[in-house]
Amino acid sequence: MNTRINAAITAVGGYVPDTVLNNAKLEKMVDTSDEWITSRTGIKERRILEAGKATSDMAAMAIKNLLNNTGVNPDEIEVLIIATSTPDHQLAPTAPLAAQKAGLKNAWGFDFNAACSGFLYALSVAASLLESGRHKKVLLVGADKMSAIVNYEDRNTCVLFGDGAGAVLLEPSKDAGAVLDTVYRSDGNGVQFLSIPAGGSAEGTTEQTLLEKRHYVEQDGRTVFKNAINGMTATSMEVLEKCNFTTEDIDWVVPHQANLRIIDVVGEKLGIAKEKIKVNIQRYGNTTAATLPLCLWDFQNDFKPGDKLLLTAFGAGFTWGSTCIIWGGLRNNNKK
Ligand code: COA
Repeated sequence: MNTRINAAITAVGGYVPDTVLNNAKLEKMVDTSDEWITSRTGIKERRILEAGKATSDMAAMAIKNLLNNTGVNPDEIEVLIIATSTPDHQLAPTAPLAAQKAGLKNAWGFDFNAACSGFLYALSVAASLLESGRHKKVLLVGADKMSAIVNYEDRNTCVLFGDGAGAVLLEPSKDAGAVLDTVYRSDGNGVQFLSIPAGGSAEGTTEQTLLEKRHYVEQDGRTVFKNAINGMTATSMEVLEKCNFTTEDIDWVVPHQANLRIIDVVGEKLGIAKEKIKVNIQRYGNTTAATLPLCLWDFQNDFKPGDKLLLTAFGAGFTWGSTCIIWGGLRNNNKK
């Protein structure tokens, strides 16, 4: 008898701040244009969290949205994983704070940092906690307040990022729902092409680093662009093979939302029709660890139980990879 426990996504939630930073506003802040941003990235607007609020606030809002829509008792949540690159504090993880704000009295939790691949990597960790039989309800949140680490005088980066949070509940599967298989990679050489150089243990904050604005995101966009296309395409093909799927078998692709051109080229290389590829970058920009769960939240009504989803991401590190999941029935019947 097959006694394997599968982990399924049984609920999704999300939160984006009300404040919209559109391309017209950015035109007044840096030397850029709506035409440049739209044609090079696909982004029209992004959300910005209000002053005084932190990543834990957005994570808590996404969790509350999920719990309110499903009626799951917050006391039943055993584990909370927050994938983020923008923790509230350098010391003191964000997960306990978010758990407190969301009213999760019985959850232990931790932060998970793999930049834009954070949610994807952590999905495998969260699934393992269920597959082992050790836990029955695990919440995984991808949340990033990118506006806290972006230099709004640098047109190379400030047009790309936004703030947001998405949450999924994982439970032992009662139907076909499952996190099937993963192909993940990392390459530490990537740090020279995308990082926040100062403020960590490698280079502490000094007057000089602040003057040089080395505590903000810096990147070589072209190198990241090429590596993202190659990495997402290669791991997608590998994970499809591991799952014995062809691209024809895939119902939906949920890609990291960094640049519409990256998404389009990956789709073309994989030979997957555009209609199957989920895109909301035009509204939120790149919300780092939040892009995948925000897509699952936005498009949940399109996914049917039994659908095969291919999730793929690329981010700082470099970190990248792909996962195949089978969509199960949601607790709220896929009603947002
Ligand atoms: N507005 C107007 N011009 C801009 C600009 C902006 N916001 N940002 C850059 N430019 C300029 C550059 O200065 C450059 O000018 P130059 O030719 O005079 O030097 C020109 O546009 C082309 O720059 P380039 O970097 O070649 O553009 P690109 O087509 O590669 O697009 C990115 C730039 C950043 C949009 C693209 O490389 C990208 O998306 N990379 C991946 C970034 C990413 O996803 N990072 C997050 C991690 S997942």
